[in-house]
Amino acid sequence: MDERPIGFFDSGIGGLTALKTTLKLLPNEATIYVADEANLPYGTKSSKEISNYSQKIIRFLIKQNVKAIVCACNTSSAIAIPHLKKVYTLPIFGVIDAGAKKANQVTKNQHIMIIATKATVRSKKYNEKLELLNSKLVINDLAAQELVKIVENGDYRSKSVIKKIYQILAPLNKTLADTLILGCTHFPILKEQINEATNYRFKLVDPGHEVIINLKDFLTKKHLLSNNNVKSNNHVFYTTGSTEHFSTLGSKFLDNSTIKVNHLDLE
Ligand code: DGL
Repeated sequence: MDERPIGFFDSGIGGLTALKTTLKLLPNEATIYVADEANLPYGTKSSKEISNYSQKIIRFLIKQNVKAIVCACNTSSAIAIPHLKKVYTLPIFGVIDAGAKKANQVTKNQHIMIIATKATVRSKKYNEKLELLNSKLVINDLAAQELVKIVENGDYRSKSVIKKIYQILAPLNKTLADTLILGCTHFPILKEQINEATNYRFKLVDPGHEVIINLKDFLTKKHLLSNNNVKSNNHVFYTTGSTEHFSTLGSKFLDNSTIKVNHLDLE
């Protein structure tokens, strides 16, 4: 039994998709979520910058005495986590392995498409992992960086935004893949719109969801689950950007349960 919180981080609200799964699958756990909105988007930054931001957040979370960290950001998971996992003894979960494993399990025609940020696509980490799992796979990818901005702007339903989403995803109509990895934690927030824009033809894989299944497994095996009946104040939120912006979007996404957000300056 371990009552310490679990730390989460992302560049913005995207990682809340992983947090939401945690609230369902691990309801007794306390959580600390960091959104690095001052440095968003990560997907257009250099590898050095992404590693630097990620390391600062991990240091902050360790100071908060977390028992494990979920890097709920594909970009950081692809670029920074492989190295940072070796620097810290604390268990750190990235989302790439979990997403690739699930996609390999669900594809029927051995053809997988990935949409992600520019930096994640450039890193080819999903492609590498998928090839290791199954050398027969055909893999295509598409950088859909602009979807991050759409999610952070909070307007997912106006006609002009829907039109833009269709335009960004138009290249997906050419692929024969049957499985689509939502390789950025912001994208599951647009699941409905992505399904509509692609005629519901893909099985969608949400790596942020898959990683929480692995986390639960890990905490159970290591006897690190919390027994606490968590009250809502055991979910703490920080942003390096505007607390008002994060609170408005975050509360909406977390089913209107208003969340209190603290400001954080990363050292
Ligand atoms: N949500 C993040 C990801 O999963 C990063 C989006 C961004 O900041 O570009 O990659």
